[in-house]
Amino acid sequence: MKLSLPDLRTMKSQRRPIVMITAYDHPTGRIVDAAGVDLVLVGDSAANVVLGHDSTVPATMDEMTILTRAVSRGVEHALVIGDLPFMSYQVSDEEAVRSAGRLVKEGGADAVKLEGAGPSLDRIRAIVASGIPVMGHLGLTPQTATIKGGHRAQGRQAEGARALFADALAVEAAGCFGVVLEAVPPQVAEAISRRLDIVTIGIGSGAGTDGQVLVLHDMLGIRSSDGPQPRFVKHYAEVGDVMKGAVERYATEVRGGEYPAAEHTYSMPPQELEAFERAIGAGSIEENALADW
Ligand code: KIV
Repeated sequence: MKLSLPDLRTMKSQRRPIVMITAYDHPTGRIVDAAGVDLVLVGDSAANVVLGHDSTVPATMDEMTILTRAVSRGVEHALVIGDLPFMSYQVSDEEAVRSAGRLVKEGGADAVKLEGAGPSLDRIRAIVASGIPVMGHLGLTPQTATIKGGHRAQGRQAEGARALFADALAVEAAGCFGVVLEAVPPQVAEAISRRLDIVTIGIGSGAGTDGQVLVLHDMLGIRSSDGPQPRFVKHYAEVGDVMKGAVERYATEVRGGEYPAAEHTYSMPPQELEAFERAIGAGSIEENALADW
């Protein structure tokens, strides 16, 4: 059965940690769902992780809709959250509702996520009023990282932490069912989590939030660049190395004539093969082919 928004509140009240992870295509949607996660985020981190950009900013609505549709087709139990890309909701409430509607109607998402408080609060209210659940995202917000001085932890000074706390209360009041807290000191994330009734999902924000999220390719060790990774990334496997090793073995076997072997081919009934060999031996195939031309 599909997880519901009330289930998330119940998990919070029972202090059962919520597990969220990203996915960007159908097979990984199936795998993370089968692994029993609660929330699957089709993050705009797709821009970095699978589309080869160096930030999340270039992700488009069309790309996010296609990726969300692929993932949601593979997920039966977890709640699928589609990420609204940069400039799909900033300009107006109408555009925000239209973009969120695409991720739900075309992409099959159960909910959407957007970044920030301030001007985003009206967008949250408008999308929620249209009947679409919204998850907020505070702290390090990659879409506006440039304004905030780069990809750096937020709320490390008392004033910044206080502002973050106020933003968290504001996104809850605006109607979000949950909020991601990215790269926030653990004490601040825990204080916010205790105060809010909605669920908090941390990434790089310690163990005091109601749940955790990681980017799938980061935790699997599938690297899209050679640059440093954030300190909160834990590698649960080195799938990138496994993939590279497998492709290297395949290349070696093709070059060495070991692949394909007999068991990888399709057989032909002997009489059909004889007839075929007689036909090409008599040259009739070439003649017929030339006649057809
Ligand atoms: O896009 C994304 O993957 C995210 C997570 C890091 C929360 O926003």
